[in-house]
Amino acid sequence: MEQQVLFTNDICEALKEFTTKILHDRLFILFDTETLHYCLPVITSFMNEYDLAHPMQKIETIYIEHSDQAKTIESLTEVWQALSDRHATRHSLLINVGGGMVTDLGGFAAATFKRGIRFINVATTLLGAVDAAVGGKTGVNLGSLKNEVGAFAPADAVLISTKFFETLDHVNLLSGYAEMLKHGLLSDKQHLNDLLNYDIEHWDTETLLPLLETSVKVKQQVVRQDPYEKGLRKALNLGHTFGHAFETWCMRQGHPVLHGYAIAWGLVCELVMSHQQVGFPSQTLYDIANFVKENYGPLRITCDDYPALYELMTHDKKNEGEEINFTLMRNVGDPALNYTANKEQIGATLDIYRDLMGI
Ligand code: GLY
Repeated sequence: MEQQVLFTNDICEALKEFTTKILHDRLFILFDTETLHYCLPVITSFMNEYDLAHPMQKIETIYIEHSDQAKTIESLTEVWQALSDRHATRHSLLINVGGGMVTDLGGFAAATFKRGIRFINVATTLLGAVDAAVGGKTGVNLGSLKNEVGAFAPADAVLISTKFFETLDHVNLLSGYAEMLKHGLLSDKQHLNDLLNYDIEHWDTETLLPLLETSVKVKQQVVRQDPYEKGLRKALNLGHTFGHAFETWCMRQGHPVLHGYAIAWGLVCELVMSHQQVGFPSQTLYDIANFVKENYGPLRITCDDYPALYELMTHDKKNEGEEINFTLMRNVGDPALNYTANKEQIGATLDIYRDLMGI
């Protein structure tokens, strides 16, 4: 089933339409403590109208703590328990309102509760809209290992409203923008240049929207061809082998960073490797590295950190043998799948990354 993605500025109307279309007995809405505060008010009129129309089965709200560290089995159990305590059935519908943490965890809760109930994602962050909410990957972290437990389960619908982004701070915006850069690299030079030339410092919803729509389409096109990541979808892992290692490493150092920051640094590393192994053009590598340096700043690492970063990469789900698996790029729009690198090559890549970042 093709996942519907709807861009709307009338989120209440969209929710009304989809909750009418998707037959269900009871409706549950999952928030985190942040979206409960900022986003529940935006959908209150939908909720009130729904309750008036369904006086015997009013909406049940569930909420979990807001923090990527809360994407745990414990929070997942809380959601399962809430669904069970409040008599959700196999025919109940769950709406996940939030960023990637809520849609990943809520999607996994829905995919597994009574062996699967239907769900809708309402993406409230740029990162969620451009990546997590779309494409059916759900799951939770296991300790500090990201998305270690999960399932492929597409939401029935993904609703994206840039209205939610108005309350996003700049770092969260940049976090989402890194995944857009990745989609730019996977699509074509025009879209990538549009992203590199966009004045992200002075963004507004009107000018960001067309870039976001193109970006989501890039992801949808890939997922449509390979929903279970047997081949082409591995291209969406660009930047993520280094990126996940950076993200976990920062968390273990006690200085967690937003996902997209780790991915921005990971993109630079994996383009360095792409240049060395499959001839990715150096000018585009410099353009991306400069954009990342200017907007995200560098992640400061030294060669003493390389063994720990390598060790983290060995846990990557994509590895099959001794070496670490990477998605590389021959050129913009031309991914090179299933490449590997050893510890020495990874160290050499990090050396060049540090040069490019001026550290
Ligand atoms: N975030 C990568 C994917 O959805 O495949």
